[in-house]
Amino acid sequence: MNGPTDRHAQTSVPIHPLLASRQSTRAFEAGVDLADEQVAALLEAARWAPSAGNTQPWRFILAKRETPDFKRVLDCLAPGNGEWAQHASALLVAVRVDSDAKGPLRHAEYDLGQSMAHLTFQAAAEGLTVRQMAGFDAEAIAGEFELPAELKPTSVVAIGVAGDPAGLAEAVAGPDSSPRRRLGLDELLIGV
Ligand SMILES: Cc1cc2nc3c(=O)[nH]c(=O)nc-3n(C[C@H](O)[C@H](O)[C@H](O)COP(=O)(O)O)c2cc1C
Repeated sequence: MNGPTDRHAQTSVPIHPLLASRQSTRAFEAGVDLADEQVAALLEAARWAPSAGNTQPWRFILAKRETPDFKRVLDCLAPGNGEWAQHASALLVAVRVDSDAKGPLRHAEYDLGQSMAHLTFQAAAEGLTVRQMAGFDAEAIAGEFELPAELKPTSVVAIGVAGDPAGLAEAVAGPDSSPRRRLGLDELLIGV
């Protein structure tokens, strides 16, 4: 496991500074609107991710703060997530395309995850923070936005400017103040 206090990634050799400093905060600065160019850059980064057979099995619902869609997405989050995500500048639903005319897209979830990794990296470059969520009601979102059966809401991504963790309610503050940990490389490499 990595170092106990430093919230930057502790690595055996240097990695890109944006990757080392990226972290998923729950504290967002409230009342911040994203610039249109920032939003466009995030979506372009996601759009240009690689995918199996270039199938691009990703679709997005983008809900900016203080819009009806933001409230619709927020209402579908698990209560523990809604508590902090309400202060984000935008909520993005990452939707995978499960099948196309040729049949199931077996790597759709993998590809969608990769597009979110690109978005996350671009967000770091824009000075923004991102926290992805599995804690939401996918069926409720699909119903709310009348998604066809092949479109599966897979994660909700809170995007904004990192805020002061001291302002978080105690029940949700943990991840922003506790050390960030990873398995060691020796635990990840199989067969050596
Ligand atoms: C697919 C996915 C689902 C996640 N679900 C939640 C969630 O529902 N609530 C939450 O607070 N964090 C959630 N997270 C954030 C992770 O807990 C976080 O990324 C992990 O602890 C590593 O921290 P780091 O991103 O700061 O390195 C999720 C992350 C991913 C990638």
